[in-house]
Amino acid sequence: MMMMMMMDGRDSPARPTVCVTGATGYIGSWLVRSLLQRGYRVHATARDTGRRSLFSPSFHTLTPIPRRHLETTDKAAKLPLSSSSEGSDRLSVFRADLREEGSFDEAVRGCVALFHVAASMDFDASAQQNIEDRVRSEILEPAVRGTINVLQACIRSETVKRVVFTSSVSTITAKDDTGNWRAVVDESSTTPTDVVWNSKPRGWILQVYVLSKLLTEEKAFEFAEAKGIELVSIVPPTVAGPFLTPSVPASVRVLLSPITGDPVLYPVLVSVNSRLGSVPLAHIEDICDAHIFLMENADAKGRYLCSPGSYSIPQLADLMSLEYPSFSSERFRMEFHDSIPSVISSNRLKSLGFEFKHDVREIVKQSVNCCMNCGFLS
Ligand SMILES: NC(=O)c1ccc[n+]([C@@H]2O[C@H](COP(=O)([O-])OP(=O)(O)OC[C@H]3O[C@@H](n4cnc5c(N)ncnc54)[C@H](OP(=O)(O)O)[C@@H]3O)[C@@H](O)[C@H]2O)c1
Repeated sequence: MMMMMMMDGRDSPARPTVCVTGATGYIGSWLVRSLLQRGYRVHATARDTGRRSLFSPSFHTLTPIPRRHLETTDKAAKLPLSSSSEGSDRLSVFRADLREEGSFDEAVRGCVALFHVAASMDFDASAQQNIEDRVRSEILEPAVRGTINVLQACIRSETVKRVVFTSSVSTITAKDDTGNWRAVVDESSTTPTDVVWNSKPRGWILQVYVLSKLLTEEKAFEFAEAKGIELVSIVPPTVAGPFLTPSVPASVRVLLSPITGDPVLYPVLVSVNSRLGSVPLAHIEDICDAHIFLMENADAKGRYLCSPGSYSIPQLADLMSLEYPSFSSERFRMEFHDSIPSVISSNRLKSLGFEFKHDVREIVKQSVNCCMNCGFLS
């Protein structure tokens, strides 16, 4: 394992410091908590450390930041934790923005590893003029520059040994070069960038996301190889389950869109189903455990798809109706034709020794229940 142990003041082994970008988001906030629970010191980055609450107090994790604390500290604001939260004294929050060069230097200083979770999705696709040029100059180039900024900060730190990059299953397709379904889909089944550029009917928002994930990951691997940083990439599918964020995360809303009928997010679910033949899922706890597993495991190299299972939309709708009886799943069975979906394989990750704790049924169950508890589903 790459991680070294240090002794803290009480002569017990203390883990070193790691950095998490995008710590206010769904995956980032859970990852910070998981790392603190394991004893790591965490430097979390956020664009706005002045937010009233970076993490929701309702999940017994981090309490809102007192105003006076925010006013007296800037880049290294420490978040106080509630008494039930583990490791509050080992967390520091740094202001950093992917669009600002050098922005991550302070957060990365003294860290042995970095989790690059942050990704920008600020894009207004309503304007139709020069959209391709705008996508390149306003989204893709800044996204790549942002990732390189983070990696340059790692090099300048002279302490970061490994970077775990959060990719996305949106970079993967179940169709082979001839348009036929692959029997097995894994992390090597990457969608070629030119295919994404040419598939405009799927809509710009989705395309921009896919392109930005494809390009940032590709450039990150190139840069890491050239500069001698160990970079490992995790490829999450739709992530769901409980959440620490103050609002319901987008991916949980995508999963539950058959119930809510969300006109923007349901097409996203349909698009995953049509690209992969089914919808692979992962529980938030497993995704964060896998991030840490890949950081700690010296043998980890390249990309790792991380999903315990994949169900078609009608199968997911059936599971949802079990948990949420007022919802009828019948129409989804009519809407989608029977097909033999590709196997979505996480064997590469499992062969390295990773074990999933939650299956698809559990993910759907917990997502529905959490959303009922917080009032998102009535
Ligand atoms: N959730 C999923 O199902 C899923 C699936 C596959 C891959 N992923 C990947 O996992 C990562 C996290 O996803 P998520 O679901 O946790 O998303 P999220 O909740 O929207 O979080 C995104 C994070 O990125 C930060 N960010 C955005 N623009 C930034 C910028 N310019 N500079 C610095 N930070 C910026 C956000 O910070 P602010 O609070 O400042 O906006 C936020 O903390 C992303 O890379 C995403 O592509 C997620």
